[in-house]
Amino acid sequence: MTAEQAERIVRTAGYVRAEMRGDSSGHDWWHVDRVRAMAVWLAGREHADPYVVELAALLHDISDYKLNGGDHERGPRLAAAWIRGLGESEAVAVAVAGIIAGMSFMGAGVTPAPLSLEGQVVQDADRLDAIGAIGVARAFAFGGHTGETMHDPARPARPHATAEAYLNRDSTTISHFQEKLLLLKDRLNTPSARQIARHRHEFLETFLSEFLAEWDGIDIPAD
Ligand code: ADP
Ligand code: NI
Repeated sequence: MTAEQAERIVRTAGYVRAEMRGDSSGHDWWHVDRVRAMAVWLAGREHADPYVVELAALLHDISDYKLNGGDHERGPRLAAAWIRGLGESEAVAVAVAGIIAGMSFMGAGVTPAPLSLEGQVVQDADRLDAIGAIGVARAFAFGGHTGETMHDPARPARPHATAEAYLNRDSTTISHFQEKLLLLKDRLNTPSARQIARHRHEFLETFLSEFLAEWDGIDIPAD
């Protein structure tokens, strides 16, 4: 990476940090910082362009459609505008905007858009942050933020066939585990991410079975 690129990364991190300060939906600066670290590591393993990967990781949640009223274009547009403002080439702005536009999970039955290698790496890093202990914490933070019920045995999980059904669903945080989080380990793009996902996925399953067992009162003594 050139000194100029390194400086643009620092400026981008400062911008994103200021924009995302105070978020309580699990999309805060620290999510971005973890995704950035994982994505940069994956880029090294998978021979992706580390500069584009780091810029895209930093900017990937600058305006999430789930939290901005459903506007899918605002995030990619803001990212491209920021990158142009840095004096960076149009090719980099377009590459990063394309990654951000293409990387979001849109429902279990929805065919995903093709992503560049750099996009695959950033998407993997983002998905790894949705599983494991941090994934559990983020799911409940998101659920609380959006007013979602934690669990309701009368509302079972179901896969969503279309992006619209996924966005308009009325589900619970626990059903989100079945609808998305438990599926992620099989939807990763790179072998390096799949390796990391193994342990994090096991933890999700452990958490879920403990949660449901306590819910059902299995540890209430019989006497
Ligand atoms: P994506 O772009 O794939 O939606 P994000 O990085 O924006 O992923 O983060 C989504 C985070 O929000 C994840 O940790 C996910 O578990 C959580 N989340 C999304 N929808 C829900 C939901 N309905 N209930 C609980 N958590 C959710
Ligand atoms: Ni994210």
